[in-house]
Amino acid sequence: MTQPVRVLVTGGAGFVGSHVVWALHDRGDEVVVYDNLRQGHREALPTSVELVEAELADETTLDATLGRGRWDGVLHFAALSLVGESMQRPFHYLTENGGLGIRLIDACVRHKVGRFILSSTAALFGNPETLPITETTRIDPGSPYGESKLMIERTLYWADRIHRLRYACLRYFNAAGADADGRSGEDHRPETHLIPLVIDAALGLRPEITVFGNDYPTPDGTCIRDYVHVSDLAQAHLAALAKLQDGSVTYNLGSGTGNSVLEVIRSVERVSGRSVPMRVVGRRPGDPAVLVASSELIRSQTGWAPRFTQLDDIVASALAWRRRNPNGYGNAA
Ligand SMILES: NC(=O)c1ccc[n+]([C@@H]2O[C@H](COP(=O)([O-])OP(=O)(O)OC[C@H]3O[C@@H](n4cnc5c(N)ncnc54)[C@H](O)[C@@H]3O)[C@@H](O)[C@H]2O)c1
Repeated sequence: MTQPVRVLVTGGAGFVGSHVVWALHDRGDEVVVYDNLRQGHREALPTSVELVEAELADETTLDATLGRGRWDGVLHFAALSLVGESMQRPFHYLTENGGLGIRLIDACVRHKVGRFILSSTAALFGNPETLPITETTRIDPGSPYGESKLMIERTLYWADRIHRLRYACLRYFNAAGADADGRSGEDHRPETHLIPLVIDAALGLRPEITVFGNDYPTPDGTCIRDYVHVSDLAQAHLAALAKLQDGSVTYNLGSGTGNSVLEVIRSVERVSGRSVPMRVVGRRPGDPAVLVASSELIRSQTGWAPRFTQLDDIVASALAWRRRNPNGYGNAA
C-alpha cells in the first residue's frame, strides 16, 4: 500500500500503539488515536496527531469518531493486559477486552471500515506442548486475558465471513525496547514486564529484581521468553496492513529466539555497566517454562523480518529511553 492511509488507532497512546503511530506518522499516514489515557500518555504521540480521549465503552463518542469520513483501517491496541489481574477479575477482563472488542468490530462493520488489526497475544497458547509456537499450535488460553483476545479473534473470523471485514490478528510475544529516536518508550503503571523492571533495578530505581523460579527445565533453570523489539512490531503492522489487500491473516510475532530471565539480567548488566541486585523466589503459578514464536509465516508472506536480532540491542534502546526518562512520561514521580 503506497498511498497514505487514514486510520483510527485505539490504545494508540500506549506502549506498542504509540510506536505504531510514529511508524504510520513517519510515512505520512493520517492517524487519529482513541485512548482513555488510563495507561497511555499524550507525550508518547506526535503533537500533530489528534487524540480522542474517550472510553471504548462510550458508544456515542466511538460512533461519532467512526462516522467522521472514510477510514482505511482500525488498529485495535486498547486493552487491559495484566494476566495475573485477569485471574482475579475474569469477568471484568472478558467484558472489557472481549465485549468491548466485539462492539468495536460491530461499529467498524456499520461504518464500513475495510480493515482491522488486532493486538493479539502469545497468551492464547497457554502452556504449549511443542516449540516454537506456530499459527497452527493448539490454542488453549491459560487466562481470561488470553481468552478475551480469542473472543475477538473469533469475532473477526465471522466479521470477515459475513461482512467481508479484512483482519489481521497479530499475536505478539514479549514486546520490548524503545523508539531509536527516543520519541516513545515503555511506561506501564504498574510495570510488570521483565526488561524495564531489570533496567530499573540496575539504575537503582527499584531495590532488586525478583526471579520467579530457577528450577525450570531450561539450561539455567529460569523461564525463557521471546523478546521482540517494539519498532519491529510497528513495522509488522505496516506489513500486515498492506497484506490485507489479499485477504485476512493471522501471524505470530516474535524474534524467533528465546532468552532466559538470567540472560536478560546479564544483558542489562553488560549494556548498563551496572550490577543488578536480584532475589530468587518460588515459581509463579501458570508460568510456562518456554514461550518462543515461529514468525516464519509473516516473514514468508510479507518479507517482514526483525531488525533487532540481539537482546543487547533491544535492552540498549530501552535503557537509553529510561535514562532519559527516569520517571517515565510526565516526570510525575
Ligand atoms: N506489551 C506486550 O508485550 C504485549 C504482548 C502481547 C499482546 N499485547 C497487547 O498489545 C496491546 C498493547 O499493549 P501495550 O503494552 O502497549 O499496552 P498499554 O497498556 O501500554 O496500551 C494500551 C492502551 O490502551 C488504552 N486503553 C485501555 N483500555 C481502554 C479503553 N477501554 N478505552 C480506551 N482506551 C483504553 C490505555 O490507556 C493504553 O494507552 C494490548 O492489547 C495488549 O494486550 C501486548
